[in-house]
Amino acid sequence: MATRHFLTLLDLSSDELSYLIRRAITIKNGLKTHGPTYTPFSNRTLAMIFEKSSTRTRVSFETAMAQFGGHALFLSSRDTQLGRGEPVEDTARVLSEMVDAVMIRTFSHQGLEAFAAASTVPVINALTDDYHPCQLLADVMTWTELRGYVRGKTAVWIGDGNNMCHSWINAARQFDFQLRVCCPEGYEPRQDILDAAGDRVVVLHDPQQAAENADLITTDVWASMGQEEEQAKREADFAGFQVTEALLDRAAKDVLFLHCLPAHRGEEISETLLDDPRAPVWQEAGNRLHAQKALLEFLLLGRIES
Ligand code: CP
Ligand code: NVA
Repeated sequence: MATRHFLTLLDLSSDELSYLIRRAITIKNGLKTHGPTYTPFSNRTLAMIFEKSSTRTRVSFETAMAQFGGHALFLSSRDTQLGRGEPVEDTARVLSEMVDAVMIRTFSHQGLEAFAAASTVPVINALTDDYHPCQLLADVMTWTELRGYVRGKTAVWIGDGNNMCHSWINAARQFDFQLRVCCPEGYEPRQDILDAAGDRVVVLHDPQQAAENADLITTDVWASMGQEEEQAKREADFAGFQVTEALLDRAAKDVLFLHCLPAHRGEEISETLLDDPRAPVWQEAGNRLHAQKALLEFLLLGRIES
């Protein structure tokens, strides 16, 4: 059977993704009840390649492997031959001889695809300039835990049409909800990704209008990793796109606010938004652990139906 990779949410079927969300909730409950006694990955190894900074992604994948009885290797491009120009395809072939799966956080999505094409073990996208699908597993899991189901609901993305926004668009397709993307002119998501989502996604430019009756509102930093030099220009361009408690008041009564984190208080969100009971962002961050356990288990062992 061909090796399955997880480079975007489109690599799994809607049915498989829904399974992953259910399975992640089951795994989380099992951990709470029995502690880390489920260890299906005895002697299995995950290589984790990081070309950008990370807190949540590194800790969640490393902890997932440890709790599952396996091992995770942290590989920074600075300290490996990747940083000295060894081709990604050669690195992929070498790692495939030794480890059971590879997780990569990098800049170029094409580079990630080249790695995956040469890899005979599953490759997981842990963020590229274009997508962050692992975050969406945790986000949809959190939304499902708190509201029961997401199908037919309305989510609102406020901010940059970036990697997170692209993954929200793919999530709208795969989990069958409506998405309003609200961004300043010139910061729209990629047109081909929008086109593929058809009428599930609309693009707006007025946050007040976008928030109206929303079931969920989410945002992200205005300048992503690699865009640090654009910070000042972006702060000016995104004025008026800050998510505040007052903006949430325009949404549905039981609206949820999510943020992939790290957050910049006083920029894309108000100073106090993360203290609002409508913002379960710590639960969302914690769900990275459980969602990625479900993903790793699926890629290495297949479905575990109860
Ligand atoms: N949300 C997220 O991916 O966080 P890190 O950059 O800390 O991994
Ligand atoms: N859009 C952000 C997400 C960080 C988790 C970035 O790429 O820096």
